Amino acid sequence: MRVAPIRFFSRPPTPGLVDRFGRRQSYMRISVTDRCNMRCDYCRPSAGDWRSEARERLLSFEEIARIARVATELGVTKIRLTGGEPLVRRDLPRLVGMLVGLGRIRDLAMTTNGALLARHARALADAGLMRVNVSLDSLNSLRFQRLTGGELSGVLRGIEAARRVGLEPIKINCVLMRGVNDDEAPALMDFAAREGLTLRFIELMPMKRGLDWNRRYLGIDQLLRRDEVRMRLAGKRPLAGSQDVARYWAMRNGGMVGFITPMSARFCEGCNRLRLTADGGLRSCLPADGQLNLRDLLRGGCTDDEIRAVFLRAALIKPEIGIYEFDAGAEKRSMIQIGG
Ligand code: 5AD
Ligand code: SF4
Repeated sequence: MRVAPIRFFSRPPTPGLVDRFGRRQSYMRISVTDRCNMRCDYCRPSAGDWRSEARERLLSFEEIARIARVATELGVTKIRLTGGEPLVRRDLPRLVGMLVGLGRIRDLAMTTNGALLARHARALADAGLMRVNVSLDSLNSLRFQRLTGGELSGVLRGIEAARRVGLEPIKINCVLMRGVNDDEAPALMDFAAREGLTLRFIELMPMKRGLDWNRRYLGIDQLLRRDEVRMRLAGKRPLAGSQDVARYWAMRNGGMVGFITPMSARFCEGCNRLRLTADGGLRSCLPADGQLNLRDLLRGGCTDDEIRAVFLRAALIKPEIGIYEFDAGAEKRSMIQIGG
């Protein structure tokens, strides 16, 4: 007797999360807290404008992991933990472990200010975190203190610890501001080259009420015109083939420097990002206002299908390009609330 061969029908490929402009949404940035142990001038709203959310209004790790699971089922393969400062959230390695346990994430990274990194790097790496981006706006400890309220030496120790436990490649994010820290661009480039780190310069965004954006903004094109910057770049052109929002150049002394131009040259064209705020808002565009509330849905006892529907809706309302308003007086949700 012949036995009919068992046929395995592969499930039809899920359409996943594709927005109206054909951009597949495969990258989710998850803010785990809106609190921070630093107070960077360009980020932290002044006291009168903002208070951090009460603990119970923030998503629990279980809620985050459930949302992330649905996201991965819809094709999200890359997750970045952000804040506020993610490391002020207690027990973060537990969340990392839960996300790793979902089994579908190919890239799991974290953006941190580095202050608590030395303390937690080992546990994070053991839990499965792959790499970190560390913010570093100055190499001068007095200036660093003035800009961030934090301590430079601790951040440098954090970077060192991240390297020791293999949270690599380590990227250093630096927001350059005219007349504030732009004189340090060459020193930062030399530091990155020497330490084997990837440095990224980011244009200042007008994300906070009262930020003197007009005076402080420094365009990457202007930075690239400076001799002391140009002489540190190898070659005449950026490196080809980067998947990142940054345009990378090789540096003469080794290492790479990237330039991120949210203001002067939008990179919306290939945008694959979704953001989950610490209080459970799902956003598909950083500067756009639309945000969908997942927390209340979850706490109302929703099904996975309902979560899926919210993701699809987020993809549907994603604008073709996000526009930053240049009006410094406008009401804004700053990075600390949205997640960097
Ligand atoms: N402009 C540019 N980058 C910002 N960040 C926060 N606020 C701003 C802003 N107004 C970024 C910084 C920091 C990360 C956490 O968020 O790069 O490293
Ligand atoms: Fe904190 Fe980062 Fe904002 Fe600085 S930029 S205040 S470190 S969240």
